[in-house]
Amino acid sequence: MSVPVAVFASGSGTNLQALLDHEPSSGRYRIALVVADRSEAGALERARRAGRSAEVVPVSGRPPERVARDTLELLEEEGIRVVLLAGYLRLLPPALVRTFPRRMLNIHPALLPSFGGKGMYGRHIHEAVLESGARVTGVTIHCVDEEYDRGRILAQWPVPVRAGDTPETLGARVLRVEHLLYPRAADHLCRAVEEGREPAPFQPPGRAFGVLEEDTGELLEKQIEAAFSTG
Ligand code: GRF
Repeated sequence: MSVPVAVFASGSGTNLQALLDHEPSSGRYRIALVVADRSEAGALERARRAGRSAEVVPVSGRPPERVARDTLELLEEEGIRVVLLAGYLRLLPPALVRTFPRRMLNIHPALLPSFGGKGMYGRHIHEAVLESGARVTGVTIHCVDEEYDRGRILAQWPVPVRAGDTPETLGARVLRVEHLLYPRAADHLCRAVEEGREPAPFQPPGRAFGVLEEDTGELLEKQIEAAFSTG
């Protein structure tokens, strides 16, 4: 049985695409609905191309209760049990967050709790990482609560910062890991939801930091898969 999932996005939706691409081999989840806060979001087009429902729920200038009501209606219609935020830039109304306790995830392109919070999105994050002199950044997948980037962490994976990196080169390296990590974290959560339990804690193995230096795509994919296989 696959868990009906909704993906929320504001941007181009490459993480949505990674989730869609992984879906057939996963079998754990089925993306039944994509929600965007604006009609220009590239994620909507990706959803339609894949034959999924794609809906816009405008947020700007509307009371949070209205946004929550409209969104919940859509989620109920599709029987959604898990929500995945993938580049959704709005704070979700409390009523919505409360409906999906521990069943709503967000992906953040840094190692939270560092480089998170209001205003920390897109290029700003990678600029801040480079300015700080950190040698390691990464990807965080966490449960969503009523504040930006604060909920319980489900999974993290390190990414090296290299000499000469720009926000663009660093962002691209992080994004590649996002595309590998999010679908597997979604599997991990959906399996737990299906079995009526909390997902097991996830930790990248110590050797993940060794692989950082090699940075070869295939090896990374195998590492990430192996790390989740124990959950
Ligand atoms: C990703 O970096 C994600 O971590 C962040 O927003 C970005 C969305 O990118 N929350 P995309 O739209 O999935 O390409």
